[in-house]
Amino acid sequence: MKKIIIAIDGPAASGKSSTAKLVAEKLGYLHIDTGAMYRAMALKVLRHNVSPENSAAIALLAQQTSVRLISNSRGVQKVKVELDGKEVSEEIRSPKVTNIVSPVSTVPEVRALMVKEQRAMGSEGGIVLEGRDIGTVVFPKAELKIFMLADARERSRRRQKELGEKNVSISVDELEKEILERDRIDSQRSVSPLRKAEDAIELDTTHLSIEEQVEFIVKKAKEIIQ
Ligand code: DC
Repeated sequence: MKKIIIAIDGPAASGKSSTAKLVAEKLGYLHIDTGAMYRAMALKVLRHNVSPENSAAIALLAQQTSVRLISNSRGVQKVKVELDGKEVSEEIRSPKVTNIVSPVSTVPEVRALMVKEQRAMGSEGGIVLEGRDIGTVVFPKAELKIFMLADARERSRRRQKELGEKNVSISVDELEKEILERDRIDSQRSVSPLRKAEDAIELDTTHLSIEEQVEFIVKKAKEIIQ
């Protein structure tokens, strides 16, 4: 059976990760969370005490960095994120990393490194990649492109629930501020800004459940595969 590339892009906390993971499970595809890769780079910047605004130092650091996503198998999978050979899957979700990941990911050398790795992982198809620039830059010929959106308030509520489950307590107002600021940086940067590819299908998830989002994408994918 034909194995396609599914590109899911969209702003922060729009539900891309949970949706992409389930879509991949249903199709027996690999799930690549590209945001996790940029987060790993941001963690390295923090560990080296480099300012997130110091693009030159970040570019240099990127040259001495290896970021890998390791999954057990296609279909049901537990993806591990490795930074320079050591697992950092939990650490990259910390608010400290979230606060600096957008400026770090504006650095062209960082993007070049990640895009190269993402293209290598996706070369054989059978993959769901989610991020900001998958349908526009990483795989502009992806067979199915989805642009996920949701109201900023709703995205902040979802993020609060997610963090609450990890015993992290932050107000919805504070989260909304952080999410809007990340959206601003991600969509205004000069290299590979967040934007909808012309041939992407827009999916507003404000009033949709995860199950509905997954079903919508799987149905579109099956139409293409068959
Ligand atoms: O999806 P996320 O919130 O974990 O992504 C974290 C940051 O990484 C996001 O604010 C911008 C950056 N990113 C990017 O620039 N390009 C991607 N393809 C994915 C993420």
